[in-house]
Order: sequence, then C-alpha cells, then structure tokens
Amino acid sequence: MGCIRFENVHRDFTRGGETFQALVDVNLEVRDREFVAIVGPSGCGKTTLMRMVAGLEFPSAGRVTVDGREITDPGPDRAVVFQAFALFPWKTVAENIGFGLKCKGMPEAERARVVARYIELMGLGGYEKAFPHQLSGGMQQRVAIARSYALDPGVLLMDEPFGALDAQTRVVMQEELIRLARQNPRTVLFITHAVEEAVYLADRVVVMSRRPGRIKEIVDVGSVRRAEGWDRLEHIEEVMDTASFVHLRTHIWRLLREQQATALAA
Ligand SMILES: Nc1ncnc2c1ncn2[C@@H]1O[C@H](COP(=O)(O)OP(=O)(O)O)[C@@H](O)[C@H]1O
Ligand SMILES: [Mg+2]
Repeated sequence: MGCIRFENVHRDFTRGGETFQALVDVNLEVRDREFVAIVGPSGCGKTTLMRMVAGLEFPSAGRVTVDGREITDPGPDRAVVFQAFALFPWKTVAENIGFGLKCKGMPEAERARVVARYIELMGLGGYEKAFPHQLSGGMQQRVAIARSYALDPGVLLMDEPFGALDAQTRVVMQEELIRLARQNPRTVLFITHAVEEAVYLADRVVVMSRRPGRIKEIVDVGSVRRAEGWDRLEHIEEVMDTASFVHLRTHIWRLLREQQATALAA
C-alpha cells in the first residue's frame, strides 16, 4: 500500500532574515500504485514536496500522510532516487541492488533471486560484478532505480532522476522506467521539469505555479494513454508523435508559459 496525501500543506522558509512562502495550500492525493509527475518552474517547491514525503522536511501548516499516517521521519516504506547516482562505490552492481534487502534481513537465496530479477528488468545483465565507476551515468541510475524497486517500498520518490543524463540516454531510461513501472505498479511521485517526460510516464501530471508554489492544475494523462493505446507503441517517439500526446504536452506548456508571463509582468 502507498497512498500519499497532502492536506492544506503550507511551507515557509526563512532566508537572510526574511520569511517567504515556498508552498501554499497544496492538496493532493496520490492513489495506491499511481504514477504522478510534478512539473513546475524552478524554485516552486517540487523538491520540498518530495522531501516532506521522504520525512526530511515538514509542513509549516497542514499535514502529509502515507496510508493515513502522518510522516514524522524517513522510513523503508518510502524509497528515494535522487538526481545524483547515490550508489556505494565500493560495492558491485549486485551488492548495491541487494544492500537494502540484506539490511531488511532477507535470506541470501531469496535476495539473489530478487536481485537477478531487477538486473534482468533494468537491462543490467552481465554487469552484476561491475563497480559503479565502471558504468556510465545511465547505467548507474538504472542500478539506483533497480535498488529502489527491489526494496519493494509502498512509495517511490524520484527527484529529477534523469536530469543529469544526456538526451539519448534519457530516452532509453524513460522507456526502461515505463516498462518497469507497468510490470511492477507502485506508487511513484516523480519530479521533473521535462514536460514530455511527465506526460510519457505519468498517470496524472501536477502542474505547479511559480513561487509561492501552488497546484495550478492536475492533468489526467492515464485515461488518454489507455484510450489511445500508447502502451502498445514500442518507442517513446511514436507516443510523442500521436495527436493526443501533442495535445496534452501543449496544454501543459501553456500552463507553464502563463507562469512565465505572470513572473515577467510582476
Ligand atoms: N531549507 C531551506 N531553507 C531556505 N529556503 C529553502 C530551503 N529549501 C528550499 N528553499 C527554497 O524554497 C523554494 C523551493 O525550493 P525547492 O523545493 O527546491 O524547489 P524546486 O525543487 O521546485 O526547484 C526555493 O526558493 C528554495 O530556495
Ligand atoms: Mg528541485
């Protein structure tokens, strides 16, 4: 289970003696096994929202719950994938993926099975014994994602996980992730500033306003994806070529552009 709720969440920060509002009145429910992407201008509070679910940050007012329980600290029910590939450099690919399982006390034979499954799913076959420094950035991030999924958390939190990758690698990763997400549905909160990435991956896209961050609109992508059969298309560029994809992407771009315009007018 992994149902995330933001209820009337506000967050103020103080910097240089001045207090400012970073997030205002955020209300959002991410359903169990739903893939929700958050897009919005830089500084609108996306990372802060994610850190609240991770238990690394707290609202100034309102509350954030997972399965009805208010979040008070980090926990194994919520796994985080950051932009930087946070792997243990001294451990192999297989050891990195299995590390959390070992900590949970999973017996070795079972652990080996789970690790092998995610190595296969993430296209890491043949690299089991490699060390992170021997891998490209894309491969390292596959290991990080495999490690998070292998832990089988109720909630997966990803903060611009492909932000540091080149465009080509990024596309491959998006295809890998959507395959993984379809085969292992989990509750995912995915932050990105790439609109196409959000529309391609998510069931719903939350569009935020510029600072102070509020939810401007929640765009339902999942119903369009199902109705238009995007998942039957093999490659991302085929999905991106469909009229339904272009329509959603353009809609979200307009919402974001309005933010830009109000920022310039202010
Ligand atoms: N611990 C903090 N102290 C002061 N200001 C912060 C802190 N964390 C974030 N902020 C500010 O809050 C705003 C939102 O930050 P963040 O959540 O990182 O935005 P985003 O991820 O959307 O770019 C920014 O203006 C940022 O500088
Ligand atoms: Mg951020």
